[in-house]
Amino acid sequence: MRREARLGVMAALAAAASLLVPPSPHASGADAPALCGVAAAQGEGRLEGVLVTARRKEASFSVTVSTNEQGRYCFPRSHLQPGEYALRIRATGYDLEGSPRADVKADRQATVDLKLGKTRDLAAQLTSQEWIISATGTREQKKAMQRQVINCNFCHTLERVLRTRYTAEQWMPVIARMNSYHPDYSGSVLVQKWRGMTGADTWWTNPAGDLASYLASINLSQGGTWAYPLRPLPRPTGRATRAIITVYDIPKQPNVIHDLDVDASGIVWYGHSGYDLLGRLDPKTATFTDYPAPNYSTQQGGVVGLMDVQADRDGGVWANVQGPKLARFDTRSLTWRSFDLPRSAGAFLAPFRAPNTTTVWTHSALRLDVATGRVDEFDWRTQLTGPHTLYMVDRDSQDNAYFPDYGRFGYGNSGITRIDGKTGVATFYPTPTPDAFPRRGYIDAQDRFWFGEFFGDKIGMFDTRAERFQEFPTQHPFSSPYNARPDKHGNVWASSHGTDRLLRLDPKTGQILEYLMPVYYDARKIVTDNATERATIWLPNKNTAQLIRIEPLD
Ligand code: HEC
Repeated sequence: MRREARLGVMAALAAAASLLVPPSPHASGADAPALCGVAAAQGEGRLEGVLVTARRKEASFSVTVSTNEQGRYCFPRSHLQPGEYALRIRATGYDLEGSPRADVKADRQATVDLKLGKTRDLAAQLTSQEWIISATGTREQKKAMQRQVINCNFCHTLERVLRTRYTAEQWMPVIARMNSYHPDYSGSVLVQKWRGMTGADTWWTNPAGDLASYLASINLSQGGTWAYPLRPLPRPTGRATRAIITVYDIPKQPNVIHDLDVDASGIVWYGHSGYDLLGRLDPKTATFTDYPAPNYSTQQGGVVGLMDVQADRDGGVWANVQGPKLARFDTRSLTWRSFDLPRSAGAFLAPFRAPNTTTVWTHSALRLDVATGRVDEFDWRTQLTGPHTLYMVDRDSQDNAYFPDYGRFGYGNSGITRIDGKTGVATFYPTPTPDAFPRRGYIDAQDRFWFGEFFGDKIGMFDTRAERFQEFPTQHPFSSPYNARPDKHGNVWASSHGTDRLLRLDPKTGQILEYLMPVYYDARKIVTDNATERATIWLPNKNTAQLIRIEPLD
């Protein structure tokens, strides 16, 4: 019998059977639809790439899927337990009409169709990237605002900046005040002062006066509306609509979070950067727990909170605490152990991979031997010429360290600096793109370092064995890839700054898919959990203190 014919017969049998028997076991299986519907706009019909978010009243998380080519969305039963859900959408240019609700039952599929109308406030829906693309100005002017180590949409959106009526003169004290906030420990609510940047005359590499004049030319100081059309990017299509996104709200609010890691049993650990706390999420039960973390800073009024968090292979979670120490949390005994360092670890720690779990590399070019407590100090400064700033750190299979290196404030040098773990020799490898600003990334099992080129708008790869780079451009300018990480299928995932989009690179074709997130996000870390059937991606959302889980469906 030919295959199609047999399928035809089976479908007919199945249809007949469904008339006779109660819902089959399949219909109540995890993949069976719990809630479906279509999203359509007046005069335009059904729309693809509309993000539909469902939230159960009592839940601490929400679940998002997208409409497909036919404008249809479906939530599987695995992600929506029975209950009453409120629905919302993200589709730039549109508002959802009414406040639709869904009553999800255990034994049958619920249907809710969504009506969309033209939005009354497009400006409120634009991402910072869309503002930059829309605004008038030369490349140099846009660079001053956005291509900075810490830019004007680092701690809040550009909407906040561009809805103002400030003249150039009125901008000057505002820019000076922005210089005083700590970039990593200041959300827009939880502000910590920073001693790193001072002075009212500059904004990083730029004269503050030039930036002030530019800002006054693109905000509302000239009149009631913007002098340029607002240009949203297209909605997601095709494969970029095929993902289930779960957004968990961290209970401790307000908050700023920076890094996370997933341990071997799928538990998520994250660093609160607003408090001295290590956070834990069990995604299976959506349960959060906080553990007090040590702070060894001796500075009066010094900053509080954790940055990088790395799970080792022995039930430990290493956290980047304040002060000249490293701290490891034993997840079984729930106790901390600390290790003395000659200076602070910097912001980041290298991930742990077998067989190198016996050492810890820090961003400040130290290497701790965990068993003996011995620390090797590597002096790369005397070996390299020109401006260098070593950013995060990772290591290859031979325990040599690699640091994205951004010169001075992202300019003058751009590349990867390697420190040989045995000899201490430092070598600088420049990226093909000048001023690419390699920011953060991850070394895969073939010793290839994948990283975000923050100013270069590319995902970079440095093959540490062949000592060769490859660069993959993003679809749109100002995508600002921040951190990149490969999964077990060979895709490379990158968080992207100011865009609310998650990038997925297929290195074989060079194609980058863009998944729009349902929330305003910024993630300094990206983790792929390869223990799940398809790789799962986790993002710590610094903007709103949430943890985002992305489950791609293909
Ligand atoms: C390090 C974090 C950070 C960066 C970077 C930052 N801001 Fe802010 N911004 C804040 C915080 C915190 C607030 C709220 C407190 C306040 O207004 O001082 C704020 C508020 C604002 C406001 C609203 C308050 C007002 O005075 O009108 C504007 C406008 C603004 N920022 C513009 C900018 C511009 C322009 C830049 C780039 C030059 C920038 N911000 C960069 C943290 C930051």
